[in-house]
Amino acid sequence: MKGKKRILTGQRTSGPRHIGHLVGTLRQYVALQDSHDCYFLVADLHALTTHYDRPCELSSNTLEVTADFLACGINPDKACLVLQSAIPEHAQLSLLLGMLAGVARLERNPTYKDQLRELKLQPSLGFLSYPVLQAADILLYQGEYVPVGDDQLPHLELAREIARRFNQLYGHTFPEPQPILSNMPRLPGTDNRSMHTSYGNAIFLKDTPEETTRKVMDMYTDPTRIHTSDPGHVEGNPLFVYLDQFDPDKEKVSKYKDAYLAGKVGDVEIKKHLAGVLNESLSSLREQRARLISKPDSLLDVLQNGTQRARAQAEQTYAEAARKMGILALNHKTIQGDTQ
Ligand code: TRP
Repeated sequence: MKGKKRILTGQRTSGPRHIGHLVGTLRQYVALQDSHDCYFLVADLHALTTHYDRPCELSSNTLEVTADFLACGINPDKACLVLQSAIPEHAQLSLLLGMLAGVARLERNPTYKDQLRELKLQPSLGFLSYPVLQAADILLYQGEYVPVGDDQLPHLELAREIARRFNQLYGHTFPEPQPILSNMPRLPGTDNRSMHTSYGNAIFLKDTPEETTRKVMDMYTDPTRIHTSDPGHVEGNPLFVYLDQFDPDKEKVSKYKDAYLAGKVGDVEIKKHLAGVLNESLSSLREQRARLISKPDSLLDVLQNGTQRARAQAEQTYAEAARKMGILALNHKTIQGDTQ
């Protein structure tokens, strides 16, 4: 893939993907795979930081996320779909880069602080060094651009700092990776907090139409509105945020908004319409996904192939970084060289 800029990004396998992922990142991945040399990482080691006590869930999530990626349109013939744990150099480079990352700096990371608060975690060493592993993921493939949601920017900044430090100490080795931010607003969850796999407020790509409808009918709307005839708020109302994203009939959405503002249409009618729109918009993705998840061996084959293709680059970068840091390579060639 000569001449194309290299992209590396990934998602931790914390659970099946939801419509927030679809709108925020997955559609962007699909759009980038023609114009860029893309590596998409199924980041199961990152998922371990929060799921180390649930091995069965972790392994099934790896397949779920892979099925979601493919069903959204990631094409394994165009992009490399890599299983993070299957390439040991991710963990190895993370160990080396860990020497260049200060503990106080890692503790100041806002994502780290937020997650500790939200998930009420006892911080582990693995969790603290999450962004170091992420830096290793990116730098291992010499990733130049990293499409991410804005929640990942602090991690990316750290990856840039580590790359800079490495280059200063050992000579130029890594490009400083640049973010590509999605221009889509973050989709709120059905309760109007941000949509999250573990907050109970997500509509998953794998949900059935019935589950989707039930979730939509229970959605948070406009708390200031008591009667249908009360003028409602459209701004910041998740019903309309979803309609803006998923309803192709913009004119109809605009009429609904006017009616809502004027107190002429009830929540139930909008919700029924939205459920129909979502189910329609997701139906072919869901069919495709159901087919994929019913053949776990084919999903493993896809991961196997992508990982195989990525391996040489990972080995080469790791060997170079290790050598520059003064690690001797006792590989086949040196041993042969010594005895000749
Ligand atoms: N931290 C990212 C997330 O939570 C996942 C991830 C792992 C990642 N390695 C990466 C993202 C490398 C971008 C680049 O979704």
